[in-house]
Parts: sequence; C-alpha cells; structure tokens
Amino acid sequence: MYAAVKRRWRNSPRPWMPLPKTLFAKHALNTPPIVRSVAELRTAVAAARRAGKKIGLVPTMGALHAGHVSLVEASAAECGFTVVTVFVNPTQFGPKEDFSKYPRTLEADVAAVGKAGADLVFAPEPSEVYPAGYATYVEIAGVAEPLEGECRPGHFRGVATVVLKLFQMAGADVAYFGRKDYQQTLVVRQMVRDFDVPIEIRVQPTIREADGLAMSSRNVYLSAAQRQSALVISRALSKTEAAAAAGERDVWKLRDILQTELATVPEVRVQYAVVADAETLREPAVLDRPCVALVAAFVGTTRLIDNLPLAPLK
Ligand code: PAJ
Repeated sequence: MYAAVKRRWRNSPRPWMPLPKTLFAKHALNTPPIVRSVAELRTAVAAARRAGKKIGLVPTMGALHAGHVSLVEASAAECGFTVVTVFVNPTQFGPKEDFSKYPRTLEADVAAVGKAGADLVFAPEPSEVYPAGYATYVEIAGVAEPLEGECRPGHFRGVATVVLKLFQMAGADVAYFGRKDYQQTLVVRQMVRDFDVPIEIRVQPTIREADGLAMSSRNVYLSAAQRQSALVISRALSKTEAAAAAGERDVWKLRDILQTELATVPEVRVQYAVVADAETLREPAVLDRPCVALVAAFVGTTRLIDNLPLAPLK
C-alpha cells in the first residue's frame, strides 16, 4: 500500500515535492493493531481520548464484507479513532445454529477495516468476554419479542448482553449498526435508552450486491443455485416498496404482495414476511406511519434476513 502511494505520488504532477505526511498517516500504512484484552483496549481508547479524539465503535462478528466496511467508513468520517470489534458471540447463537461453522477470517478482516480507516481491532477470546462464573444477561421485552425474537429464542438476550459489554469495554462516543439487521437496531436503541448508556447510535443503510442480494457473512454458505433463489427476497421487498410508493396503503394488501412474490420460489422457505411499524414492529392496518417490510427465510439450511423501509424513516 505504501509502495502504491509512493508510485501514485511519483506519477503525480508534482513529484519533486515531498510525500505529504497525511497520506500515510492513517489510510496508507493501514494495518491497525489487534488487541485481545479489555485492558489493552481501554489503554488504547484512553490515549485516543487524551489526544482529544471522538471514539467510534463498530461491533461485528467478522467475516467482513462491504456492508461492514461501510460502517467503518462512516465511523472514520465522523470519529478520530475507530475501534472495530470482531467477536463471534456464542450467547446469541441457538444450540442448533451455526456458531462453530460461522466463517472466521480475521487476517482479511483486519486488512479490510484498515483500508476503511479503522484504528484498532478488538478481537477477544470468548473467555475474555465471558470468564468462568459469568452470570449477567440483558433481557429486553417489547421490540425484541416478535419476528427474530420468536424464531430465535434467546438471540436478542445474547446480542444485547454482548453489545452492552462492548459499549462498557470500549467507552465509545458513537456506535454504528447496519439497517440490514433492522430489529437489532431497535433492540440496541431500546437498551441504550433503558440503561442510560452514554453513547449515540447511528444506523447505516443496507449494502447490497449488484443484483440486490443483501450482503451477509452467511451468503458464503449458498450454492450458486441457492444464491439465485435467494434473490426473490430482495425482489419481493422491492415490489412491496414500489406498491407502497405507488400509493397502496392497505397493509394486508402490501403483505400479500410480499408473500405472493416470495412464494414464486419454493426453494425459499419463509419464516416471516410482514409489514410492520418501524418503531414498534406491530402490524398496523393502514400504512399511515413509517413502516418496514421484513423477511426471514431459509434457502437450504442458510437463514437469511432482509428488510426495506416503506416510508422515509427518521
Ligand atoms: P454482524 O452480523 O457481523 O454485523 C455487524 C454489523 O454489520 C451489524 O450492525 C449489521 O447490521 C451490519 N451489517 C451486516 N450486513 C450489512 C449490510 N449488508 N449492509 C450494512 N450493514 C450490514 O450483527 C452482528 O454482527 C452481531 O449481532 C453484533 C451486533 C456484532 C453483536 O454480536
């Protein structure tokens, strides 16, 4: 990378001028350090804070793609010091879920977030996050209960617990989440409100492949044929969005459009396909407020989720 910067500079209109320091301060020599312990994380964050920097946090489970990278870029644009956490959190996986086979690609992850402007990667072992004798969990009612809450009992308990712990460990000013996991953003916001956590939550748009498939670390599980089948999810969501944009206000009709399109590909086994209030996730009769169309479906043994807002979200 440094060589590439030097080459670009040599070919620039002013090669006689010295290479500007800023070029290789952060984004050129860009492999951020990896720390494994909370103590090292706190030391690094404290130093950045003493230097007057705003701290951004991007929690992830690794196997990073352009969706994650967009969160890192958003943080780097707003914060002087960006921490990316890479931790496959055991407590958010059900006993029959893919915890052990979840893709782990730390080296590539570090390179990807470094290019995007990350300053530090926190990649703890499970025993650092959940030492022997660990006993405290966060339970969220209301918004955590329907949809993912019903399909994946205990999932949001694990998510909320680890996210609160990461917030406590890093002491960041701002944390970045993707709209791809829509219900997760509502659960995190609820927890931050209820526990008075001094952090701002930013939610970034879903990044998609060129053909519409929402990027996900789980897409690597799909065969070529399954990947093709999976496209019906984003297609059904777009159809529903288009119907709402064309003036359809009957939520039952919108849901029917969503479900009918999904049913055209029998290889895709739908768990839920709903149009719900963007704040409460309850299903209104009329689209008279910001709503979201949300889908969860299995393609083979791979579970995918996606969603689209049906009216401008706040
Ligand atoms: P993970 O699935 O790795 O996602 C990390 C963050 O990236 C989440 O905020 C997620 O919404 C966001 N993200 C994933 N795919 C995206 C896409 N296509 N476009 C934009 N953002 C996307 O979500 C988790 O990890 C975990 O539950 C975590 C919050 C880290 C707690 O363990």
